[in-house]
Amino acid sequence: MNEDKFIQVNNLEKTYENGYQAIKSVSFSVKKGDLVCLLGPSGCGKTTTLNMIAGLLNPTGGDIIVNGKSLLNVAPKDRNIGYVFQNYALYPHMTVLQNVMFPMTVGKNKKPKDEAEKIAQKFMKLTHIEELADQKPGNLSGGATAACFDCTCTSARTTNFVNG
Ligand SMILES: Nc1ncnc2c1ncn2[C@@H]1O[C@H](COP(=O)(O)OP(=O)(O)O)[C@@H](O)[C@H]1O
Ligand SMILES: [Mg+2]
Repeated sequence: MNEDKFIQVNNLEKTYENGYQAIKSVSFSVKKGDLVCLLGPSGCGKTTTLNMIAGLLNPTGGDIIVNGKSLLNVAPKDRNIGYVFQNYALYPHMTVLQNVMFPMTVGKNKKPKDEAEKIAQKFMKLTHIEELADQKPGNLSGGATAACFDCTCTSARTTNFVNG
């Protein structure tokens, strides 16, 4: 593996279904362990780029290579890319416990349910939300929502995070 080019974005392009070309040819690489920020005016294509890295959008050109492997035909759940959305993304129909467990129950590194629950309870205890396990996200205070989201991200235990 080339640690200097852990993530490589090569000539990435995105033309939306309405014909608007949001990304023309974006290329950059990220060294393993680096914290990188995409800076630019609103509408310049930051979210579009991150959505393609996470697999929520398909590029219309170019390639995304992580750890030497193209992600183009890899499903989002198998990419090992965590995505911290600008707004808290908790599933409203699931309880706090189910939300925290969820990342551990999907994808290629998924854990047995009882193990996932044990780990989820440990995270919830650390962030003092263990008593809210059966609540739905809509009933939580702001602080508890943030704690629940922190637990959910931690439980994903992924190596790569993008923040859109
Ligand atoms: N689904 C879409 N269809 C068409 N155009 C879109 C769509 N989503 C975003 N855009 C346009 O693509 C450009 C880049 O958007 P975006 O990636 O959200 O920018 P940023 O995150 O940098 O503010 C903007 O001009 C936006 O209006
Ligand atoms: Mg954006």
